[in-house]
Amino acid sequence: MASLFVAALAFTLATTSTAAPALTERNCINLQLSVPVTANTTNLDVPRVDNNVDAVDLVWNIERWTAPNTTARITGTNLIQQTFSINAQLCVPNNSTKNVLQIATHGFGFEKRYWDSELHPELYSYVEASLAAGYSILTYDRLGVGRSDKPDAYDIVQGSVQVEIIKELTLMARAGSLTTSSSIQNTAIPKFDKIVLVGHSLGSALTLGVLTKYGNLVEGAVSTGFIIEGVTGLVSDDAFGLEYAASNDPQRFSDRGSGYMVQATQSNAQQIFFKKGHFEQEMLEYAVSIKETGTVGDFVSLGLVLGQPALEFTGPLLFALGEYDYAICNGNCTGFYDLPALKSSLFPNATDLTAHVQPGSGHALTMHTNATGQFQAIFKYLESNGL
Ligand SMILES: *[C@@H]1O[C@H](CO)[C@@H](O)[C@H](O)[C@H]1NC(C)=O
Ligand SMILES: *[C@@H]1O[C@H](CO)[C@@H](O)[C@H](O)[C@H]1NC(C)=O
Ligand SMILES: *[C@@H]1O[C@H](CO)[C@@H](O)[C@H](O)[C@H]1NC(C)=O
Ligand SMILES: *[C@@H]1O[C@H](CO)[C@@H](O)[C@H](O)[C@H]1NC(C)=O
Ligand SMILES: *[C@@H]1O[C@H](CO)[C@@H](O)[C@H](O)[C@H]1NC(C)=O
Ligand SMILES: *[C@@H]1O[C@H](CO)[C@@H](O)[C@H](O)[C@H]1NC(C)=O
Ligand SMILES: *[C@@H]1O[C@H](CO)[C@@H](O)[C@H](O)[C@H]1NC(C)=O
Repeated sequence: MASLFVAALAFTLATTSTAAPALTERNCINLQLSVPVTANTTNLDVPRVDNNVDAVDLVWNIERWTAPNTTARITGTNLIQQTFSINAQLCVPNNSTKNVLQIATHGFGFEKRYWDSELHPELYSYVEASLAAGYSILTYDRLGVGRSDKPDAYDIVQGSVQVEIIKELTLMARAGSLTTSSSIQNTAIPKFDKIVLVGHSLGSALTLGVLTKYGNLVEGAVSTGFIIEGVTGLVSDDAFGLEYAASNDPQRFSDRGSGYMVQATQSNAQQIFFKKGHFEQEMLEYAVSIKETGTVGDFVSLGLVLGQPALEFTGPLLFALGEYDYAICNGNCTGFYDLPALKSSLFPNATDLTAHVQPGSGHALTMHTNATGQFQAIFKYLESNGL
C-alpha cells in the first residue's frame, strides 16, 4: 500500500506544479502547513525578558524557593482561535506494509532536525531509522521555532497551544489532508490507519498532554527524555544557561522578539543534553549549530498540560530514557520512576506502560553514540504492541 502511495505521490509532485518540491531520495517532502488552533491560554504573572540580564533574572523569578507556582501566576484566561504556519517534513518508506505514522515533537533547544541529523544520519537520524523499519514519520518545528510562526512569547506560545497543534496534525494525518493543508495542492497522501505520537523532553510533555486531552486520537505513544515522577528535581532552569535569543545571536535570531530565549554556549548545551564519554565532539558542535529558542510561555505554562489522568488513552506508552539524564532524572534514570503508580494515577486505561533506559545516553537521546540502540528498542516495543 505504501509503495503505491509513494508512486502516486511522486507522480503528483512531478505533474502538478513546478513550484512543488521534488521528493528526496528518502521520499520526504517539506510542508508549510496551515494549522487552525482553538486553545485556552492563560495570562501569566511573569517578568518580561528583553535582554540577557532579564533572562538570568527570569530564572530567579521561577526558581527561588518562595516563587509562586504556575497556577498561582494565572491572572486571566483567553480563548484563542488562530491559524499558525507550521513547517513539517513527511517521510514515507518505499515498500512498507505498515500503515503507521509517527508524529514527532522535538524538545526545547532544537528544531525538527533533532530527529533527522545531517551528521552521520546512519548513526543519529531517527527519521532514517524509522523509514528503514517501515514507519512513516512527520517531524515539524514547534510553534516559536525554526521555520514555524513565532508569535507572542508570553500569551501565545504556551503548552496548551502546542498540544492543540499536535492534535490538529494528528487529525490532518488521519484525514489524508496534510498536503491539502499546505501550499502543495496534492491529494495523494493516504489516511494513515495508526498514529503514534513521539516526543522528546518538552515535546514529550506536550505529547502526554495530548494523551490527557485527546487520548482516543492515537494508537500509541513514546515519551523520550521525559517521565513524570514524584521526586523533586535537583536540576533547575538555571542549568540551561539561558540568554535572550536576539542578543545571543542577532543574525540567526533576528526574528525572535521579547521572551524568546536560547542556551548561551556549547557548554550549556552539554550540561543539559550530553554525557561525556558517550558522544562525539562533532555531534556536540552540530547540536549547537542547530540550536533553537524557547519562550517564557513554553517554560512557565508547560505544567498546565499535565497532571490530569489520560482516561481515553487505551494504547501502549513507552518511556525511553537516557541512563544519564541530567535534567529529568538528576543524572541517573536507573530505577528513578514508579510505573505502577504512574499507570494508576495518570494512564489507567493504557494497555501497557514500559520504560526503556538506554545505556550510555544523556538527555539528547538521538545524539549519543549508541542512538541506534535506542531507536531499535523503540521499534521493538511498538512492534510487540502491534504498531
Ligand atoms: C525509494 O525508491 C526510490 C526510487 O526507486 C529510490 O531512489 C530511493 O532510494 C528509495 N528510498 C529508500 C529509502 O529506500
Ligand atoms: C476552553 O475552556 C472552556 C471553558 O472551560 C471549555 O469549555 C473548552 O472546551 C476549552 N477549549 C479547549 C480547546 O480546550
Ligand atoms: C500553587 O499555589 C497555590 C496558591 O499558593 C496553591 O493553592 C496550590 O496548592 C499550589 N499548587 C501546587 C500544585 O502546588
Ligand atoms: C525496501 O526495499 C529495499 C530494497 O529491496 C530493502 O533494502 C528495504 O529493507 C525494504 N524496506 C522495508 C521497510 O521493507
Ligand atoms: C478509564 O478508566 C476509568 C477508571 O480508572 C474509567 O472510569 C473510565 O471509564 C475509563 N475510560 C475509558 C474511556 O475507558
Ligand atoms: C543509579 O541508580 C541506581 C538505582 O538507585 C543505582 O543502583 C546506581 O548505582 C546509580 N548509578 C550511579 C552511577 O550512581
Ligand atoms: C546499545 O543499545 C542497545 C539497546 O538498548 C543495547 O542492547 C546495547 O547493549 C547498547 N550497546 C552498547 C555498546 O552500549
